[in-house]
Amino acid sequence: MSMPRRVKIVEVGPRDGLQNENTKLDVETRVALIGRLRDCGLKTIEAGSFVNPAWVPQMANSGDVVKQLVTDKTATYPMLVPNLRGLDDAIASGAREIAVFAAASETFSQKNINCSVRQSIERFSEVIEKALAVDIKIRGYISCVMGCPYEGDIDPVAVADLARRLKDLGCYEISLGDTIGTGTPRQTRSLVEQVSADVAIDSLAVHFHDTYGQALANIYCALESGISVVDSSVAGLGGCPYAKGASGNVATEDVVYMLNGLGIDHGVDLDKLVETGRFICKLLQRPVMSKVNLAWA
Ligand code: HMG
Ligand code: MG
Repeated sequence: MSMPRRVKIVEVGPRDGLQNENTKLDVETRVALIGRLRDCGLKTIEAGSFVNPAWVPQMANSGDVVKQLVTDKTATYPMLVPNLRGLDDAIASGAREIAVFAAASETFSQKNINCSVRQSIERFSEVIEKALAVDIKIRGYISCVMGCPYEGDIDPVAVADLARRLKDLGCYEISLGDTIGTGTPRQTRSLVEQVSADVAIDSLAVHFHDTYGQALANIYCALESGISVVDSSVAGLGGCPYAKGASGNVATEDVVYMLNGLGIDHGVDLDKLVETGRFICKLLQRPVMSKVNLAWA
């Protein structure tokens, strides 16, 4: 299969990145980061989550973040939602898009959202039905698609089955998350082949963490396999609480640089993105994890 001519980048830094940072940022700073990312040309920016703040304090007051974004029609701002309570908060804040998140591993599901995979699908089916009734779009995540910190290997057939169920329930796109970053290119290729036999390839996205330094190689393989939606996080924000020495999500700067080299269109201004990565890392008092950002003049 040939490479896509255009790739949609889903920027997850303000959610998947910040949720794993030690420093808690206030609403104004999160909104400022999102505004800068939008000015870089990013059109889909995950802006927060409606989860229990006792579990993830970094995402507290996400409703106040959304309220400042809803009038902006130049980008979409998916918000992570685990249950009906989260959906009600999303609706109250004016969110137009949400993301539900299941896991391909039972133990991870229990530890992350306190229920089994089957229970999570039951919850999501209610969430999705209610969201669709009020014209809210729904993205779906599957975590641990290439390995689980508790269960080790994950069966790609189970991932494909879950992806199809989320799609059938009404998710417009399913993001395949290598949550602990253990996946390798050959695994990526076979996973994408397996899942795309059940779910159309243009409804699939990939979501890599760079824990073992495999993220860009995996993305390249996914593109060769027909994927055209890639999740990434400015400056590689985030980390993984479940993996030793873990670095975060693949850095958006690194993805953009690779796409530039491949001649693939993405609509993002790399100079501005580098500046944004430096801006947020300074506030968080942490190093930039993007190699491209570190090398950029
Ligand atoms: P629970 O304890 O089972 O919920 O948590 P519960 O229904 O039993 O309620 C317990 C308390 O939580 C109650 O409060 C509820 O009101 C409250 P109390 O009466 O004790 O004061 N509660 C809520 N509060 C705010 N928002 C809500 C909500 N729901 C209940 N939506 C729950 C279940 C899912 C809420 C909890 O487990 C949770 O918040 N988990 C956080 C999960 C999370 O954010 N994980 C990180 C994101 S996933 C991820 O990063 C992977 C991904 O990025 C892909 C990848 O990287 O590979 C997607
Ligand atoms: Mg992630």
